[in-house]
Amino acid sequence: MSLMPARPAPPIVFVLFGANGDLTARLVFPALYNLAAQKLLPESFAVVAVTRVEYGEKKMRDHLRESLGKYCNEKCDLAVVEDLVSRVSVAVADASEPKSFETLGAHLKEIDAKHGTKGNRIFYLAIPPAGFAPTVKALGAAGLTRQTNGAIARVIVEKPFGHDLDSAMKLNAELREVLDEDQIFRIDHYLGKETVQNILMLRFANGLFEPIWKREHIDHVQITVAETVTIGRRGAFYDATGALRDMVPNHLFQLLSLVAMEPPARLNADSVRSEKARALDAIRIVTPQEALRDSVRAQYVAGRIGDEVVSDYRLEKDVAPNSTTETFAALKLSIDNWRWAGVPFYLRTGKGLARRHTEVAIKFREAPISMFRGIDLDGLRSNYLVLQIAPDEGITLQFNAKTPGPNLSIARVAMDFRYADFFETQPASGYETLLYDCMTGDGLLYQRADGVEAGWRAVEPFLKAWRDAGDQGLALYRAGSSGPAEADALLARDGRRWRQVV
Ligand code: BG6
Repeated sequence: MSLMPARPAPPIVFVLFGANGDLTARLVFPALYNLAAQKLLPESFAVVAVTRVEYGEKKMRDHLRESLGKYCNEKCDLAVVEDLVSRVSVAVADASEPKSFETLGAHLKEIDAKHGTKGNRIFYLAIPPAGFAPTVKALGAAGLTRQTNGAIARVIVEKPFGHDLDSAMKLNAELREVLDEDQIFRIDHYLGKETVQNILMLRFANGLFEPIWKREHIDHVQITVAETVTIGRRGAFYDATGALRDMVPNHLFQLLSLVAMEPPARLNADSVRSEKARALDAIRIVTPQEALRDSVRAQYVAGRIGDEVVSDYRLEKDVAPNSTTETFAALKLSIDNWRWAGVPFYLRTGKGLARRHTEVAIKFREAPISMFRGIDLDGLRSNYLVLQIAPDEGITLQFNAKTPGPNLSIARVAMDFRYADFFETQPASGYETLLYDCMTGDGLLYQRADGVEAGWRAVEPFLKAWRDAGDQGLALYRAGSSGPAEADALLARDGRRWRQVV
């Protein structure tokens, strides 16, 4: 993220581990295509598609070409496709066979000679998490992570980054045995979303909001990531993971930290990430009793989402028939600092819900002295500022207005900003910005070790309390509904309500 106009990235070889996998086809290669189409890839650019077993160059090129046909956000420009595909070569590397990394090294040297890529490399690990540390270790042992003579060696690590605090700390330590922190790019695709980045602009490029962005004026904050998708073919992964691990310490905490952070001194990776980590670090670490009291976990049961008939979560493929894994999680969190003391942050996320909807809603306190008090004015509400992230992207400010006519009656109205109305947007998944930033060495939109660890630390008590409780306290909700009644009760207890997303 930079205020400068984007220029093509420096010469680079993009070494893509897991090149035959789903993530490459759906997101990574289409993002490279979009960068190429926007002329943001350098002339000296090559892709080395790495697999664990022999794949063949022609087959790989065909596969990647096909993935563009399927996942390009708009009709592909065939000349750009062919140019990009012609830069793809293949390599086989298996972390359990160190020799294969030496062969990869030799291949990279040839590519440098052919494409003029000057020894600059990005290694993208689009592989299962168990492979992260062994792959980095093998890269290091083969001398491929050394940054000699000004050459670049960066590693992009996909999600999930750890399974809990201990495993995340272990992974960070293993990566740092081989790499410096500024060589590690931990991806969270939420940071690639324009509207998520826009939270920084909204707060810090306007004089209007920041003075009231604090406990004196804000009643509470709601963060909702509701999805209609169920778990599809991801049963094995999801059943071992659950909604909380899958979404909260990463995606929802990106939103939370951008909303809660103090103004950074500068718009650079260190300043911004330090402030975000500080905000996460201020989340109160709760006791097991508080964790159970301030959370809701639930699983979907059979229902209908639009035209789709959905079965019980426990009957999904690769899910244990007695699974206690949550497909919905809601938490009430406190941030123990001067800005946020006494302002609850309510978070909820779930699969198989009625509508796809991602938003951050900031609810302001009621007017301190209302001259309308005592008059029966139905609907006099406090103001909401809503940052909409999906499916529509925009910002809405809700306030009260008088309805026309002699009677004193009130209506809730809104000032609405829609991205689509103001800007012509490029087709993008958000991965483009992230890949481009890695190529140019800007880690602002990537996660730093301390932020990842602070996130896990905050959710750990919930994970532990839920594990100890087994199926005690696991709520159910109908697929296609707005979630479990228990989530409504979590806010009702505090005299508050979730915003309707159905
Ligand atoms: C992924 C999760 O990281 O994010 C998925 O593993 C989830 O379970 C997805 O569906 C949500 O991303 P988005 O961009 O659709 O909100």
